[in-house]
Amino acid sequence: MAGIDHKIRLVVLISGRGSNLQAILDGATSGVLPVEIRAVISNRPDAYGLERARQAGVPTAVVDHTAFPDRQTFEAALRQRIDAERPELVILAGFMRILSAGFVEHYRGRLLNIHPSLLPKYRGLHTHERALAAGEREHGASVHFVIPELDSGPVIVQARAPVLPDDDPDTLAARVLAREHRIYPLAIRWFAEGRVRMQGDNVLFDGQLLTSSRLLEDEQE
Ligand code: GAR
Repeated sequence: MAGIDHKIRLVVLISGRGSNLQAILDGATSGVLPVEIRAVISNRPDAYGLERARQAGVPTAVVDHTAFPDRQTFEAALRQRIDAERPELVILAGFMRILSAGFVEHYRGRLLNIHPSLLPKYRGLHTHERALAAGEREHGASVHFVIPELDSGPVIVQARAPVLPDDDPDTLAARVLAREHRIYPLAIRWFAEGRVRMQGDNVLFDGQLLTSSRLLEDEQE
């Protein structure tokens, strides 16, 4: 179990740029995150995040979904590659494939995702465009445990970002992304330290039921 000196075994799944991965790599390198990143796995061979992992000396693997006839065989191969590392935590960091219920259940309580909205608002894609179109004054990001329903698992931490009058989807996305890079390592650290657990459909934080997600205010950290 997690203790002060214990590094938990982590596997990170990506599909692209990997800036959240970079924040996690940096946290592991600096020692802020008590994790051993066993592997970075991408479903896309050209994901830039693979290069980030290589530069950090972390093993990489590609499980290319286009090489499989269907989701079931893709997920079986992905699961095999992940489980070879015996991870205590699996991180979705911009992993853009929908995962089946069977896959998600296999990692129940040890699978995290980051989503660029203040869940339960704006599940799914194009969150920044939709927040702007709705005239939101506030937007943000959420880290949550993954359950079979898309972007619906119990939330561990959120960060809010203001929506400014001149924002377009890119400027808003950049403001949210800067906050993602703070809250994902934070949630991983809490998990690694044994402070955060999923129980049923809820999050336990220091053994207490988290009734509303822990908002990380702009001013903090
Ligand atoms: C991030 O904004 C992340 O929240 C989002 O993809 C981006 C990945 O960026 N994830 C989702 O939309 C998942 N539904 P990154 O590759 O630079 O970390």
